[in-house]
Amino acid sequence: MRILVVVASKHHATAEIGDAIVDELRAARHEAKRVAPEEVRSLDGVDAVVLGSAVYMTQWMESMRSLVARLGDELHRLPVWAFSCGLAGVASSGRVQDPVRASSVIRQLDPVAYTTFAGRLDPSVLVLRERSVVRLSGAPEGDYRDWNEIRAWARGIVRELDAHLAQAG
Ligand SMILES: Cc1cc2nc3c(=O)[nH]c(=O)nc-3n(C[C@H](O)[C@H](O)[C@H](O)COP(=O)(O)O)c2cc1C
Repeated sequence: MRILVVVASKHHATAEIGDAIVDELRAARHEAKRVAPEEVRSLDGVDAVVLGSAVYMTQWMESMRSLVARLGDELHRLPVWAFSCGLAGVASSGRVQDPVRASSVIRQLDPVAYTTFAGRLDPSVLVLRERSVVRLSGAPEGDYRDWNEIRAWARGIVRELDAHLAQAG
């Protein structure tokens, strides 16, 4: 099947999660590639979609929100898997908030599965304004991505796709 993995990422942590998902999908002999939301003009010829966005200020990135607004009808006709990448719930980050402002977009997508992966915070790549937000929120520095968890989730997509195909066919 042709699976498009669309990822909105500012500092690459989410993009690399998308690459690991693409790897797993290809290992299961699916045709998969990662693209940024702004590269997607249409979903013609695509059989399934994985959408992932980094979380900033409790919401998905603007590029992903506008993709969902632009291609909502096409997305509705396809099986969709979705994930957020953020730092809410990471140990000692009590004040970093869940992607609450993304929830209406995610509901609209009606995904087969949705999850949140812990991300990465590298203060050296942040612009000044981001650094002060991070300082205020008490977000923890470090790379919290759990590659086993991410790859296991991607293998779940493969299983769910097989079930979807069996049902359709
Ligand atoms: C300015 C700023 C605001 C953030 N806001 C949130 C937030 O509201 N909720 C959350 O879970 N993570 C938040 N994060 C953490 C990012 O989602 C995390 O660093 C993520 O891995 C970034 O992904 P990227 O490298 O693909 O851009 C924030 C990070 C920054 C720098």
